Amino acid sequence: MVGGAAANQGLGGDAVKILVMQASPNKDGLTASMAKEAMAGVEAAGAETELVHLRELKLEACRACEDGWGKCRRESLCIIEDDIEMVRDKMAGADGIVVSTPVYFGDVAEVVKNFFDRLRRCERAGPEEPRVEGRWVLAIAAAGGGGGGGPTCLVATERYAAHMGLPIFDQMVVTRRSREYMLPAARGAGERLVRYIEEQRAG
Ligand SMILES: Cc1cc2nc3c(=O)[nH]c(=O)nc-3n(C[C@H](O)[C@H](O)[C@H](O)COP(=O)(O)O)c2cc1C
Repeated sequence: MVGGAAANQGLGGDAVKILVMQASPNKDGLTASMAKEAMAGVEAAGAETELVHLRELKLEACRACEDGWGKCRRESLCIIEDDIEMVRDKMAGADGIVVSTPVYFGDVAEVVKNFFDRLRRCERAGPEEPRVEGRWVLAIAAAGGGGGGGPTCLVATERYAAHMGLPIFDQMVVTRRSREYMLPAARGAGERLVRYIEEQRAG
């Protein structure tokens, strides 16, 4: 068995855990700065957090193998053996995720697309229980100029989240112009995300 409750240690464990996925190649850029501030907020709320730089991992694009559906539909796994299962495990072990992506062509970064394109197939199309369903999402889109591509980038993350059964906690667009006041907002969002999950647990 690939998934199921036994494999999903997030949602309902002891300390709240938040996985932060950062998708820019610039580790000191705007996207990464927002991710770090969100992490600081998570830590300030007393939760556990881990930062993953997606660009440092091997995450290939979906091959749409066979007739369009392949191993993902038969076994809830991808035929490409790269870092997808490692990140999937980290997501399954968390209660929430922060996805901080640069805006490229009004969309998420390619590495986010590669990962979520394949993960949504494995999570939703195959015979095994979904493993990351229910994890709360804080989506951050770091754009250029006046942030024109930010909203469409967030539409993309919202669609991936919907396909994987991930509820949205909040969505934020940041640009270099708004950086000064959005960094504290990211910290606040990270902190509030933890509190919100704790409230949800308490019912
Ligand atoms: C290939 C490419 C495409 C981009 N497309 C957009 C876009 O459609 N809309 C936008 O607002 N900014 C766009 N940008 C600007 C980036 O979103 C912006 O520089 C971002 O803040 C980079 O974040 P970083 O400092 O974390 O790398 C693009 C940048 C690149 C490299």
